[in-house]
Amino acid sequence: MNIPIIDLGKLYNEIKPEIDSAVSKVIADTKFILGPEVCEIEKKIAEYCRSEYAVGCASGTDAILLSLMSLGIEPGDEIITTPFTFFATAGSISRLGAIPVFVDIDPGTFNLNPELVEMKVTNRTKGILPVHLFGQMVDMDPLMDLKKRYNLFIVEDACQSIGAKYKNKIAGSVGDTGCFSFFPTKNLGGFGDGGMLVTNDSDVYEKAKSLRVHGAKDRYFHDYIGINSRLDTIQAAILLAEIKYLDKWTEKRRKNASLYNSLFRGIKNVQIPVDKKYFYHVYNQYTLRVENRPGLVKALEKEGIGYGIYYPLPLHMQNCYKGLGYRKGDFPESEKASEEVLSIPVHPFLTKDLINKIADTVRNFYGA
Ligand SMILES: Cc1ncc(COP(=O)(O)O)c(C=O)c1O
Repeated sequence: MNIPIIDLGKLYNEIKPEIDSAVSKVIADTKFILGPEVCEIEKKIAEYCRSEYAVGCASGTDAILLSLMSLGIEPGDEIITTPFTFFATAGSISRLGAIPVFVDIDPGTFNLNPELVEMKVTNRTKGILPVHLFGQMVDMDPLMDLKKRYNLFIVEDACQSIGAKYKNKIAGSVGDTGCFSFFPTKNLGGFGDGGMLVTNDSDVYEKAKSLRVHGAKDRYFHDYIGINSRLDTIQAAILLAEIKYLDKWTEKRRKNASLYNSLFRGIKNVQIPVDKKYFYHVYNQYTLRVENRPGLVKALEKEGIGYGIYYPLPLHMQNCYKGLGYRKGDFPESEKASEEVLSIPVHPFLTKDLINKIADTVRNFYGA
């Protein structure tokens, strides 16, 4: 049997006629760069994220980069973030010559621990870059308080968390900007790379829109040194076809997670994800903490079950960040998580039988 961690073939089959006609239309229209579908999906995502403005770009990484550039980040500025995330979060900070300042995570949610942020604020701190990891938002209240008191910006890395909520606020709409990725494995995933930032700040919006086309508001007249980062029209058209189904697919992910929870509850070697009260988790990943991970990995591989290890090495221990001066032991919760986490398939096209089969494999491995 082969159960992939994400099944893009099933997604395509589910809405094939809509995707095919959307793509054919773009090909017939030949408006491949910043065609009308890009504007349309920007409007839809802004509305979905309860934000005034949205700027489509080439990836989630660029959504973060463009946010930081639009907010005026300069070399030497410090930005506080988590070491337990995909590299793009901190990489975008470093790309601009700014310095990622890491803070350890909450062991329950794997998200940045807001209680540890204030002690890292210095007179060089310009902002905070929280990551809503695996589909669950960071507790933003304490961060918004720090923003006010220290006059900081907040860029939300919501690349894994479109539609996630906390206390009725939606991911991406709380900070100065919110960043999304349309990488194919995301809850709203294109058929290639893509990204978008949302904001309520008209200046940030105008600047980001210009920066994505080499800093030119009017073609060939450059106000800033920008980059080339646009959302392809073909990707925009595919995303427009998919977005109608996003809420339904998210609910299915949540149902799948809830079924797993009931099947894993009580196994002492396995810790199920913490789904916090007042938070709406969108389960981009269903991530367990497990004992003897290498053994479980072998058991899953034997049964053809896909899995992911997000992430095997925290960012403060990456080779490229040796120069920042961190050491093993600096962020014990992130380091422990990187040794224990294991994500199993939770995508919306799983059947109950497949979930039972995956859960049985885990349960049998631990003799539960
Ligand atoms: C937390 C996080 N941040 C940033 C990114 C970057 O997104 P992209 O791969 O679209 O550049 C990703 C996606 O992989 C992500 O998971």
